[in-house]
Amino acid sequence: MLREVSHRTVASLATAAVLTVALAATVRAADDATGNPLQAQIDHGKSTYAEKCSHCHGPNLMNSGTITPDLRVFPDDKTRFVTTVKNGKNNKMPPWGDILSDDQIGDLWAFISSRRKP
Ligand code: HEC
Repeated sequence: MLREVSHRTVASLATAAVLTVALAATVRAADDATGNPLQAQIDHGKSTYAEKCSHCHGPNLMNSGTITPDLRVFPDDKTRFVTTVKNGKNNKMPPWGDILSDDQIGDLWAFISSRRKP
């Protein structure tokens, strides 16, 4: 009985160890392939922003003297961001849901979040 329990314990410890090693290898592989994944998202978002958003919102996320809000102080609210970008707002902000993929909008969010004023 005692022997059986300890066998099982050893077996599950071994399984856990194997899984841990496998997981670590997967994470490393992903990092090697893409560099820092968040930095890659920020970089993609930055170029999409320059292409699609900066003429209204300004090259540095603000365009003083216009009706566009300062995106550096946009709240930490990804749901609101994604909703506005997909659907537009008040017929002033155009909708992007048919133009940008969810990934592109996610990358825009990574970029804009990275520039948030403290
Ligand atoms: C044609 C000009 C124009 C373009 C292009 C544009 N916006 Fe806007 N955006 C606006 C205006 C105007 C508002 C303010 C709308 C309001 O509050 O009535 C706004 C508001 C916003 C807001 C704040 C929404 C909120 O919920 O308070 C976000 C975030 C935003 N834009 C992101 C973007 C992103 C990202 C892009 C590029 C994909 C973009 N905008 C492109 C004009 C534009």
